[in-house]
Amino acid sequence: MSHNISVSVSKQANSGSTLVIFAAKNTAKSTLQLPKISKELNTLAQEAQKSETFQGGKKETLFFRSANIEDFTNILFVGLGDSKEIDGDSLKIAAATMLSKVKSEKLTGANIMASSLTQGQKNSDLTIQSFVEGLLLSNYEYDELKNQNKKKEKPKTLKFEIGFDQTPSANVKKALKNAEIISECQNFSRRLGDAPGNYMTPSILAKEAVNAAKGTKLKVTVWDKAKIKKERFGGLYGVSKGSSEDPRFIIMEYKGAPASKKPVCFVGKGLTFDCGGISIKPSAGMEEMKYDMCGGANVIGAMLAIAKLGLKVNAIGLVPASENMPGPAANKPGDVYVARNGKTVEVFNTDAEGRLILSDALAYASEKKPAAIFDIATLTGAILIALGNQYTGVFTRDKKLMSKIQDAADEACEKVWSMPLDDFHVEDMKGTHADLCNISGNRLAGSSTAAAFLEQFVEKDIPWAHFDIAGTGWNVNNRFAYHPKKGASGIMIRTFVELAQKF
Ligand code: BES
Ligand code: ZN
Ligand code: ZN
Repeated sequence: MSHNISVSVSKQANSGSTLVIFAAKNTAKSTLQLPKISKELNTLAQEAQKSETFQGGKKETLFFRSANIEDFTNILFVGLGDSKEIDGDSLKIAAATMLSKVKSEKLTGANIMASSLTQGQKNSDLTIQSFVEGLLLSNYEYDELKNQNKKKEKPKTLKFEIGFDQTPSANVKKALKNAEIISECQNFSRRLGDAPGNYMTPSILAKEAVNAAKGTKLKVTVWDKAKIKKERFGGLYGVSKGSSEDPRFIIMEYKGAPASKKPVCFVGKGLTFDCGGISIKPSAGMEEMKYDMCGGANVIGAMLAIAKLGLKVNAIGLVPASENMPGPAANKPGDVYVARNGKTVEVFNTDAEGRLILSDALAYASEKKPAAIFDIATLTGAILIALGNQYTGVFTRDKKLMSKIQDAADEACEKVWSMPLDDFHVEDMKGTHADLCNISGNRLAGSSTAAAFLEQFVEKDIPWAHFDIAGTGWNVNNRFAYHPKKGASGIMIRTFVELAQKF
């Protein structure tokens, strides 16, 4: 069952039900790295270390129920990993480890010793932010479709209090607030991703974006099928023709800076179910294609976060949303469409549909003359083979932009990898009887040729990067404990929030 979580910061309490102390592993000295704690607590931890029951390693815990030390009933030690390698990611993993122990031991929350988290860290506010993000992200569960006919119990609230040596500063309070906003938006995107195809059609996705934006400074506009056709979105219109569900084009605008400042554009693939169309996919694993809208969901989440954080930027989020189905009016292999920018495209494989719906959205984004365009899509199976499920592939020819992206990803503790994009790849995407073809003549470098196709819809002088999240969009828990075991990750939302601030 899912829980509610409340987190507060305060001066360290000296009594309570459970005290949590984080300990790192000092590999060089084979000891634990601990904050200043009482002799009694220190002895407990050191003895566990000697007997090898607790080494301070990642995902390790040591729990003393009814220990009654220092007016705390229970004591929980949680490992942070190697003391030299603590970063935002290990802090999130430690938070996830703590939460899972609190849940399995049926505790009602805990007092967290802040000094045990911030020891040895350069920036204690960012440390607290990462930790709280990990806590709230790891609490996410998609269970709204379970036990529909049972009377819904009210979810339990777990209370966490992070205790500091002094009264917490305004900056710490801000870090907590930021963490809450970002994780709430990321969990919202995960929910959109986890909803099955019949609960997350293009029109439902658009309604979710409209509802979520209520009370924020976001202006949301939704185009229906007729408007999409009228606006010459040939790619999005064509892909949607095989389905009985109508497409939508979602526009989210945020003005946090003077109108003279160029906006940053985020474009996300919102393919709510991809069976491949006439070039139908094999049935094994096809159910995973409900996640083919995660790029779109993450753009919606990023825009919500940017607005709720009140960033001083202008930003536009664009989500072309459609199903890809093999109905009687569907795209047929060989069909040609005209995209928003006038380029013609042969659709040789109807399963390479993400690039088609993105083509119009990228051309439209270019018309806004933005400072930069970032698109995000579960675009190719090939990126999974190349990078697995830890690194998101980034495609751009702009080295300056890549370095900004790398910095933003580092700050957000998300992993990106720069991938090749070259004239060779563009050459592979030339059409026979149209300007372009939607698949390459050979099977090699499928993620790069897909990126090269997208590039043909971005105006030349606009800095642009494409993020392929086919490997990192869902089911990444084997590497990252604060993501769901099975389900959407909400990846790159935090990187996009950081990126938005760099323009
Ligand atoms: N949505 C898929 C990509 C995908 C595949 C994401 C597996 C996650 C896991 C995309 O629309 C697609 O089908 N791409 C094809 C392109 C090919 C036909 C050129 C692919 O990658 O096989
Ligand atoms: Zn496809
Ligand atoms: Zn797809």
